[in-house]
Amino acid sequence: MKAKLLADRAFPVGQAAPELFGSFIEHLGRAVYGGIYEPGHPTADEQGFRQDVLDMVRELDVPIVRYPGGNFVSGYNWRDGIGPREQRPRRAELAWNSIETNQIGVGEFQEWAKKAGSAVMMAVNLGTGTVQEARDLVEYCNFPGGTALSEERRQHGYDKPFGIQTWCLGNEMDGPWQIGHRTAQEYGRIACEAAKAMKLVDPSIKLVACGSSSSSMATFGEWEETVLMNCYEQVDYLSLHSYYGNRSGNSAEFLACSRDMDRFITDVSAICDAVRARKHLDKTMYLSFDEWNVWFHSNEQDEKVEKWTVAPPLLEDVYTFEDALVAGCLLITLLRHCDRVKIGCLAQLVNVIAPIMTENGGRNWAQTIFWPFRDASALGRGTVLQVKLDCPTYDGGTYGETPCVEAVAVEKDGEITVFAVNRSLTDSVELELQLRGYKNLQLFEHRELYHEDLKAINTADRPDTVVPGTGDGKSLKPHSWNVLRYHAEVED
Ligand code: AHR
Repeated sequence: MKAKLLADRAFPVGQAAPELFGSFIEHLGRAVYGGIYEPGHPTADEQGFRQDVLDMVRELDVPIVRYPGGNFVSGYNWRDGIGPREQRPRRAELAWNSIETNQIGVGEFQEWAKKAGSAVMMAVNLGTGTVQEARDLVEYCNFPGGTALSEERRQHGYDKPFGIQTWCLGNEMDGPWQIGHRTAQEYGRIACEAAKAMKLVDPSIKLVACGSSSSSMATFGEWEETVLMNCYEQVDYLSLHSYYGNRSGNSAEFLACSRDMDRFITDVSAICDAVRARKHLDKTMYLSFDEWNVWFHSNEQDEKVEKWTVAPPLLEDVYTFEDALVAGCLLITLLRHCDRVKIGCLAQLVNVIAPIMTENGGRNWAQTIFWPFRDASALGRGTVLQVKLDCPTYDGGTYGETPCVEAVAVEKDGEITVFAVNRSLTDSVELELQLRGYKNLQLFEHRELYHEDLKAINTADRPDTVVPGTGDGKSLKPHSWNVLRYHAEVED
């Protein structure tokens, strides 16, 4: 099969923000306890953080990590996680039916994030929480000193303010499962008031309002419009969340699911622009796709997990090779929308629907989805070019007619990187590039993620089943993730 990718240096989409390659750590399952934090683990540092995990997070180069939830945040009192550890309460955590020990809170997480080389994207509780609690948390974190809350932080050992720049106004407040679920009007109002108070404490912060928790929500569209009519002026981003799964066992259809993400982004952008027009404003509402991934493998198993335990093994999806291809398609889709989507968070980072897995007290390894994320994070932070793909299509089932190749091109430091997934399950693809505005294109690397078995997985015993290899530089194997790197000169 042949495919042609046409791009022109004169027609960029925009600059991919580093934050497009963010991730997410929630107080859920073994993400925090047994994931990033395990005092007593052979690799734990003096703060109890697992160095083996930190090394892998650094390899992914995650510029921003959303914390502490997720559904968790909607019942969370941030004061439970500050001050002397031995005095912190154990709580019945209602989002995930677990026991929360509060041994990690905002201060410790900030320390971990510094070690990981990441900024924190802090969520405030707008479920059971109040405007007062939200503005207090900003003051505790970001106020230099001289007030009760900032001095309290200093007493807790954090002399310098954390300087947390990006804040989420609650989580998935459109979802009936959410503690403190609200109507769009109710949420729009509290988001507006929380935003005002938080920005009065620290005017430099940027705020993310909750959009829909998926495009399939009955309230989708109306939710975005009503929320933004209430708080457009006060916020900087609107969130989108989306999870996919091969529930029907139809791999061809599953590989097409990034078309849903693409449509979701386009639709939400249109709604934002409609509200902007109605309000006669200039400001563009940017998008924060702060939860995306494959999530379905663990659903059944999670029903059996014992309730009211500390750090139970929840949402521990074991990712297949085809999931990695989907992750690749989703990353390409985010890049193609980098003019609008400024933050992306792979949900999540460790143990919970995660690229990084650990054993309590033991080994760590990379799941299949680790690899496309690592490549995109390392090589995607440049000028994304608009691409026109000329290739055969196939029936993507619910996702409609789908191109066999998903691809994007990024220019950075005299290099062009083409990320491409060949969705065809049977045919290899010869990819012809027509890159206008460049000359002397020289391929110097072709990374490839390929396995003959779409269901191949990595485990602690067999961590190297699905790992990157080298392609032939000419063709994209059937069902493969590819990173083609070229030296390129700009044409005069
Ligand atoms: O990432 C897992 C959960 O998915 C989050 O807690 C929630 O926001 C979403 O529904």
